[in-house]
Amino acid sequence: MSTVVDEKVVWVTGASSGIGLALSRRYLEDGWRVLASARTPGGLDSLLKEFDRLTFVPFDMTDDSQIGTVQNTLSTYSAHLDCAVLNAGTCEYLDIHEPDWKMMNRIMSVNFLGLVNCVEVCLPLLKKASRPHLVGVSSQAVQAAFPQAEAYGASKAAIRYFLSSLRMDLKPFNVDVTCLLPGFVDTPLTQKNTFDMPFLMSPEEAAKRMFDALESRPYEYAFPKRLTAMLWIGRHFPKLWFAKLAPKK
Ligand SMILES: NC(=O)c1ccc[n+]([C@@H]2O[C@H](COP(=O)([O-])OP(=O)(O)OC[C@H]3O[C@@H](n4cnc5c(N)ncnc54)[C@H](OP(=O)(O)O)[C@@H]3O)[C@@H](O)[C@H]2O)c1
Repeated sequence: MSTVVDEKVVWVTGASSGIGLALSRRYLEDGWRVLASARTPGGLDSLLKEFDRLTFVPFDMTDDSQIGTVQNTLSTYSAHLDCAVLNAGTCEYLDIHEPDWKMMNRIMSVNFLGLVNCVEVCLPLLKKASRPHLVGVSSQAVQAAFPQAEAYGASKAAIRYFLSSLRMDLKPFNVDVTCLLPGFVDTPLTQKNTFDMPFLMSPEEAAKRMFDALESRPYEYAFPKRLTAMLWIGRHFPKLWFAKLAPKK
C-alpha cells in the first residue's frame, strides 16, 4: 500500500479504545492516513470498515522483541510519519491496606517504558518527514498529588519529564514534541473509578480539543482549564489540598 502524495500520516497508539479511538476517527475525518496500534483492534473494527485509510498494526508496547517488527510493518505502509501520538496507557490504584508493590513495575512498564519503546519504533520514520511532530499523553494527575495514584501519577510524571528532555535533544532533527495532559475523560480506564471526576468529558470532546491544540504544536497542552486551575490551587496550597484529599482515619 502506498500513500497518496501530500497525504499526512499519523501513528496513534492505544487506538482500540477511549481517547485513542476517538482521536483516530478525528484524524481520519480530517483526511489523514492513520496507522493505529494496540494489542487488539477492539473498537477499531467498525472504523476499519468505514475508512480504507486506516490500518491496524498490532503492538504490545511492553514487549521489546516486537520493536523491530512493528517498525518494519509501519514502514511498509508509509516511508515516513508526520505525527506519532503515543497515547496507550493503563491505570491501577494502590490499596495501602494490602499493597501490591509489583504494581509499580507493571504500570511503569506499560505507561513509561512502553512509551519509550514506541519512541524507539517511530523516531526513524518521523525523521524522514518534512515537519515531524511527536506527541505523548501524560495526565493532569501530574499537576497535584492524588491518593492511591502512586504508580499512575509517577508514570505520567516520568512521561512529562522524558518528553521535556527529548524535546531539547530532538531540536537538531526538527522534531517538535508535545506533551498532552488530559483531565477526566469517560473511557473504560476511568469507568472503574469510584471517586468524583470533576469536569468529566466524552472521548470525542477530548479528541477534538487535542486535535485542535496539536495544530499549533505547543510544548504542553493541559485541559480542561477549570481542572488545571483547581490543581494549580492544590499545588500552591499543599496543606489545603492534603486536608481535602487525604483519607480520614
Ligand atoms: N481517561 C482519562 O480520564 C485520562 C486522563 C488523563 C490521561 N489519560 C491517558 O490517556 C491514554 C488513553 O486512555 P483511555 O482513557 O483512552 O484508556 P482506554 O480506553 O483504557 O484505552 C487504553 C488503550 O491503551 C492500549 N493499551 C493498553 N496496554 C497496552 C499495551 N501493553 N500495549 C499496547 N497498547 C496497550 C489499549 O488497547 P489494548 O488493551 O487492546 O492493548 C487501549 O487501546 C492513557 O495513556 C491514559 O493514561 C486518560
